[in-house]
Amino acid sequence: MSEIREHTRLTKDERDRRVLELCEQVSEIEQRLIPTGLHVFGRASVEAERADLLRMVASFDRPETGARALPQLIAEGLSVNTTSPPDEAATELSEQSLRAREQVEALTREAVGRFLREGSDAACAWLETAARVDVVESRRVFAVLEKIAAQLLDNRELDAFARALRGEYIEPGPGADIVQNPSILPTGRNTHAVNPYSVPSDLAYARAERLVKLLLERHRAEHGRYPAALALVLWGLDNIKTQGEGVAQALWLLGVRPLRDGMNRVTDVEAIPLEQLGRPRIDVVMTVSGIFRDLFGATMGLLDRAVQCVAALDEPPEANYVRRNIRARMEAEACPFEEAALRVFSNAAGNYGTNVNFMVMDSQWEADDTLADLFVTRKCFAYGRDAEGRALEGREARAALNGALARVEATYQNIDSFEIGITDVDHYFEYLGGVSKAVEKQSDARPAIYLSDALSREAKVRSVEETIRLETRTKTLNPKWYEGMLKHGFRGVAEIESHVANTFGWSATADAVDDWVYTEVAETFVLDEQMLERLRELNPHSARSLVARLLEAQGRGFWQAEAEMIERLRDIFTGLEDRIEGVA
Ligand code: BEZ
Ligand code: MG
Repeated sequence: MSEIREHTRLTKDERDRRVLELCEQVSEIEQRLIPTGLHVFGRASVEAERADLLRMVASFDRPETGARALPQLIAEGLSVNTTSPPDEAATELSEQSLRAREQVEALTREAVGRFLREGSDAACAWLETAARVDVVESRRVFAVLEKIAAQLLDNRELDAFARALRGEYIEPGPGADIVQNPSILPTGRNTHAVNPYSVPSDLAYARAERLVKLLLERHRAEHGRYPAALALVLWGLDNIKTQGEGVAQALWLLGVRPLRDGMNRVTDVEAIPLEQLGRPRIDVVMTVSGIFRDLFGATMGLLDRAVQCVAALDEPPEANYVRRNIRARMEAEACPFEEAALRVFSNAAGNYGTNVNFMVMDSQWEADDTLADLFVTRKCFAYGRDAEGRALEGREARAALNGALARVEATYQNIDSFEIGITDVDHYFEYLGGVSKAVEKQSDARPAIYLSDALSREAKVRSVEETIRLETRTKTLNPKWYEGMLKHGFRGVAEIESHVANTFGWSATADAVDDWVYTEVAETFVLDEQMLERLRELNPHSARSLVARLLEAQGRGFWQAEAEMIERLRDIFTGLEDRIEGVA
């Protein structure tokens, strides 16, 4: 009621703006690629999945083939503008652009559907009539889709697996997701790695500029200033897929550009002059995965050199946070420059992961500090050079990591895949959540936590809370997603339970989950009798774990639930236990 009353006090313009924002959110959810089931090894995707994938592939320019983004061609054919004007107050224009976007989206879907049912010629002809799209242009798009559609049907995974078991050679192919780089098809090949000296590519560096700008502007809009320091998570496979987009973001934050030698290898950096950068250099604490450490040794050296290069610049403290923070720590703790300037951290050699995920999943912690300390214990191994220029190769440096984290005000990770989000696997919360909890302990304040959506047509930076809301709506609570999972029976229920557990991981590490998320999970999967019966029949163990996780969320104070709801969950939990133990 109070919310309704509050709304009646809004002016008409404010109300219009809120409705529009809501529409934008709904359309964002609608347009996302939602996996409709698990990939079954050796089996080609079904038609509905193919249509979704092809629509996403068609939504991007493919400069290598001359094909332009289909939604853009349609918008041009219809002479409509689908991008919102920057001026928030221009409600009417935004409404128009929202409607235009919906129209373009619907026509794109229909065109891809016709292509799959009737072929390229029919789809081209239809697009010419329906949206005045030049046939020469649309033909280029469908030529790309034809190749991909055929490759999606050609599944060689089982054959390649059998050959691998016989010790035969498996051809390599690039590692990426299909929307980003369709040449990953056909599947069933080895993933080939990247030459670390090619990272970051020119394209990755160019894309990173825009993302870093969005990230810093968002932080400034919400906090009134740039973050004094930012903790960045870098993963290995992600930087292979994007040819170093995460690495390039670190370089942009510091305000440096990569330099290439005569063999076109990135071997050094140079500072971008402050006048050109137009903002302060941001201090960056990099916690890199074990896989990154194994693959990108040279790149870790480059990142360390970038920090040293920026720290050595004779610039005012308000324009160079790296130098300011290093000097402050040297003075406060009487520590040498080499110690205060360490910014690249990973596991000890031979070790992987933060273990924060295992501790959360097994419910083994009591105090928040335990998770923070575990993260630091696992990740406090420094890579860089000491005062004599010798490589550190992972020297334990707990005080250095804690000291660097103490000045961090924002944490961030680049998401580069359409397929895997922050509630699909436990690795996002173990890394980004883990480092955020460590910052919270060292700085006595929870940092702002951001993720990017580097791949959407309009790249976005979202807070972790917004990202969880979006993933909960598009996946966990979306019937299209969970019915897709339930088709897989036992494994599907386990996937649903795992999403709930990973969501819980974001409560544990970052207090980032709204109450409604848990309430609606309870209502959808447990308190709905028919659904509960389905889960119980398919996989009583995962059903029990899901209910236990909800009770744990309430017990730990992550979820303010009504007492009556908790009572019902307890009863259901007991019933599930009895059933599993054969009592009932
Ligand atoms: C990596 O590529 O670095 C990575 C992959 C999975 C989990 C964590 C890190
Ligand atoms: Mg809460």
